[in-house]
Amino acid sequence: MKNILVIGSTGQIGSELTMKLRREVPESTVVAGYIPGFEPKGELLTSGPAEVADVCNRQQLADIVEKYGIDTIYNLAALLSATAEKYPLKAWDIQMNGLLNILEIAREKHCAVFTPSSIGSFGPSTPHDNTPQDTIQRPTSMYGVTKVATELLSDYYNTKYGVDTRSVRFPGLISYTTLPGGGTTDYAVEVFYAAVKGEEFVCPIAPGTYMDMMYMPDALQAAVDIMNADPKCFKHRNSFNIAAMSFEPEEIFAAIRKYIPGLKVRYEVDPVRQKIADSWPNKMDDTCAREEWGWCEKYGLDEMVRDMIANLRIKLGIAE
Ligand code: SER
Repeated sequence: MKNILVIGSTGQIGSELTMKLRREVPESTVVAGYIPGFEPKGELLTSGPAEVADVCNRQQLADIVEKYGIDTIYNLAALLSATAEKYPLKAWDIQMNGLLNILEIAREKHCAVFTPSSIGSFGPSTPHDNTPQDTIQRPTSMYGVTKVATELLSDYYNTKYGVDTRSVRFPGLISYTTLPGGGTTDYAVEVFYAAVKGEEFVCPIAPGTYMDMMYMPDALQAAVDIMNADPKCFKHRNSFNIAAMSFEPEEIFAAIRKYIPGLKVRYEVDPVRQKIADSWPNKMDDTCAREEWGWCEKYGLDEMVRDMIANLRIKLGIAE
């Protein structure tokens, strides 16, 4: 990775990944790609180049790749699961036509491409416990449909054209820098804001609903490590299960109450999100990622909760 384009650089993953790449690979150029209305601000804007990079505009992407001699593209543009149910055609356009644009450019210009997949690529007929790397993928949400198609199209471009495509299936990602938006797992981020502010949290996911989750530093490390891995060790590419922790709402609330005992929660289950959550794995088996490129998480539930609360207090200027 020398010259890198991060598409979706102002989103939940992109805002932190762009900064990590700029910090850790200082000899590289890391271009922050964004769409109008989601302009980079602060350090993200001042620490390196930024360009309008709309996945639906192939020429615009090709021009950026040419201008900066891009060799690696992180394709982080996507509508998350609940939003994709509201706007299925838009989700298809961004996730599929956008990906096709990127893969075509990558084929011509010899770029490596990372496009995340998700726990959302699984569906109701997938084994829910210790979900295997290779298993049934028949998702019932538009988000899931596009994620399975992303995996297949990325593998297709690898086997047919030799494009260096790589990917992980992210769990729900928990972070304090940039809020996610429209995801089924967002509750596990939003509860921290309510807890730190001393507000009641209204939970849209029913008690007892297990989903895989991951703290952002681990997710970022995975995104970097898989692109730096030796592909000779790969038996898979698109996409690897990676897991760090699995919990249901009551478990994360209990973990937060160790630090903020007054956390109050009320359930108002959102049927759209609940249906999606029920169709997803309870916990993925990530043995292949561990064996093929050394995936290993640092944060479990308690470490994540402690770090989230401390950093969110600093961010929101709220004393303990
Ligand atoms: N966090 C995503 C969502 O909930 C899943 O990958 O949509």
